[in-house]
Amino acid sequence: MVYPIVKFGDPVLEREADEVREFDTPELHQFLADMFDSMYAAKGVGLAAPQIGFSRKIAVIDVSNGENAEEKLVLINPRIIKTEGRQEGEEGCLSIPGFREQVRRAKRVTVHAQNAKGEEFEMTGEDLLARAFLHETDHLYGRLYITHISALKRDLMKRKIKKLQRAGEWG
Ligand code: NI
Repeated sequence: MVYPIVKFGDPVLEREADEVREFDTPELHQFLADMFDSMYAAKGVGLAAPQIGFSRKIAVIDVSNGENAEEKLVLINPRIIKTEGRQEGEEGCLSIPGFREQVRRAKRVTVHAQNAKGEEFEMTGEDLLARAFLHETDHLYGRLYITHISALKRDLMKRKIKKLQRAGEWG
């Protein structure tokens, strides 16, 4: 099923999600399928469980936008264990629609996570995948990408969002 995306302003996006302790259950497999469906429906390359209202440390990523099934990634209880280099680029978030900002991120990132069976693994990604590892893992600790931009830009963005909220144009 496709869940609606939770928008900035909902407290579920700004608190640390709960660790996942039960693996390989029908409920977890269904939830992961729903996360991919919700991400593709929203045309995102990554989605964290709090963005559909579930405070659980689960993220899905597909930097191929559904073009290549081999690029589907599930990160459960992820931790960033190594970062190298720098990249500059625009970043957006499904929970903050209509906004994009330049965000400096590491160029090469290694994440430690568990898969749907609870097996631990490490994976290193570069460029867009590195950015997705950082962005989605941040979500699971209650951090949005706007914590990585200047306070001035962040305040401006928050003011615009408040205006949209008052106009009833923010979910
Ligand atoms: Ni996001």
